[in-house]
Amino acid sequence: MNPRRALFLEEMGLTPLWRLKDRDAAAPAEEAPQRVAAASVAAASADAASPTVSAEDRAGRIARMDWGELKAEVAACTACGLRKTCTQTVFGVGDEQADWLLVGEAPGAEEDARGEPFVGQAGKLLDGMLAGIELKRGENVYIANVLKCRPPGNRNPEHAEVERCSPLLLRQVELIRPRLILAMGRFACQTLLATDASIASLRGRVHRYQGVPLIVTYHPAYLLRNLPDKAKAWEDLCFARRTMADLGAKA
Ligand code: URA
Repeated sequence: MNPRRALFLEEMGLTPLWRLKDRDAAAPAEEAPQRVAAASVAAASADAASPTVSAEDRAGRIARMDWGELKAEVAACTACGLRKTCTQTVFGVGDEQADWLLVGEAPGAEEDARGEPFVGQAGKLLDGMLAGIELKRGENVYIANVLKCRPPGNRNPEHAEVERCSPLLLRQVELIRPRLILAMGRFACQTLLATDASIASLRGRVHRYQGVPLIVTYHPAYLLRNLPDKAKAWEDLCFARRTMADLGAKA
């Protein structure tokens, strides 16, 4: 077994049980891909920086941006109140042409301080999870969040914040054109799939976001607090890896 993979299994508390099994034996049987209507990302009801700019105008403007413009837009964004309380925006990190796009919720304290997603405790677990499926941050992997600014005290994102920030994530998806999205946690799943359904009910099948296969799993921070669900996350990762293997090459 590859040492990074072994390390991940150990971190996940899944050894020796999982080591004894076939690589993907724990993955759920793949169901026929289920088409979920692509989320139509509702844009902000008002642009705080320019109140005269409608949400549609703003979303349309963002939808035409290249990487440089999008990064500048995020850095200068004041579309919701979060920029007033965070240290800096956290755009996303990784290979801009990655096959894998991982989407989390919002920066926490460490991410806010360092300007990079998933660099705290949850990030350590995420790196271990990636190693478990022979992936590495930055190598054919891009990591982004639904929100680009840290909510104070790590509170849950508010609906209006998600609405205003999601055109930025949508543009990241369009620019990356990933082959597979792994949506981690309730906010990523519910935002990308435009649903209120629980993670438990969404796991184990292939959804679609703007035509891109999307697989749902638990958020790494949740897994730190809910150890029994790590085994389910491992199933999800095996399923994601197998789904990626079944996909054709990027055009
Ligand atoms: N949790 C997230 O959802 N994103 C981060 O970047 C860090 C923690």
